[in-house]
Amino acid sequence: MQALTISPGIPDSLRLDDIPAPTPPRDRLLVRALALGICGTDHEILAGHYGTAPPGHDRLVIGHESLGVVEHAPPDSGFAVGERVVGVVRRPDPVPCPACAVGEWDMCRNGRYTERGIKERDGFGAGHFLLDPAFAVKVGGDLGLLAVLTEPASVVAKAWDHIERIGARSLAWRCRTVLVTGAGPVGLLAALMAVQRGHTVHVLDRAEHGPKPDLVRALGATYHTGDLGDLCPDVVVECTGAPKVILDALRRNARDGIVCLTGVSSGGYLMNFDVGDFNREMVLENIVVFGSVNANLRHYHMALAALGKADPVWLGRLITRRVPLAGWRDAFEKRDDDIKVVITFPS
Ligand code: BGC
Repeated sequence: MQALTISPGIPDSLRLDDIPAPTPPRDRLLVRALALGICGTDHEILAGHYGTAPPGHDRLVIGHESLGVVEHAPPDSGFAVGERVVGVVRRPDPVPCPACAVGEWDMCRNGRYTERGIKERDGFGAGHFLLDPAFAVKVGGDLGLLAVLTEPASVVAKAWDHIERIGARSLAWRCRTVLVTGAGPVGLLAALMAVQRGHTVHVLDRAEHGPKPDLVRALGATYHTGDLGDLCPDVVVECTGAPKVILDALRRNARDGIVCLTGVSSGGYLMNFDVGDFNREMVLENIVVFGSVNANLRHYHMALAALGKADPVWLGRLITRRVPLAGWRDAFEKRDDDIKVVITFPS
């Protein structure tokens, strides 16, 4: 079968390989791939900055935003042939740490977790893949190809889950205004979930044209490309990973505000920063700044609920290009108006 593989650490080593099709062990689902979403993490892996092959292997099958159809299901697995599923990305560490032991692998304490298509486990960028039923999520048929957005939506659902848990530290706190920085797939899904919660939403991005401003406005949110004036949000969801944007996000919060960082940045950006002043502001205003990554099963279900409530036409506009597997090179080319690029698999 065909699979997209790379040599981690070696830039531009992506190729379409022929690898043996998996034969399902008795306790695994055999899934035929329908679609694969591509995200910033995949581009980082392609550039050689991130990613680790499975132990003893040189190459890694990439891809972690999956959608597939079950072709073989063990009896009593809770899954049936023909059902559509999405694979969970992360697997608990083998110890397991206290978080992984209770199914919160997204909060792994020792960093020894593995991730499909990213860290020490082959991903979903292949014609067929195996899934442990405990790490498969049924998506039903209603969303169609849009179900490929489940994984990025799960990451955003986790961010909102944790924002709300932090917000609950005060009986009086209410989130009214939200600023989302970055109108990529994660930013737009974060804005969608903020609107679904009834908040007033502002989205900041560099793009002056193309689908992003329209998509934001279609949510009833406000789109900004430059100066945010005196906007003082209760919550900032930072989705760019861009140092200057992060710095601004840290300084413009309302009292008792929450800043959730979701963008993975690279290092090497040095600047003068008044730590004392920053600390005083954080303390005197009860500001919480926290990072959020990955998702556990609960968040996949929250993601599906959010996607199910959203306007399918709006969701469909997030997928700006669908590229057949044979054209995989195009799929990994970055284009100005791209939001989410999805590779589709031959049936
Ligand atoms: C994935 C997460 C993963 C993270 C770090 C993101 O792109 O969506 O599931 O935990 O990368 O590897």
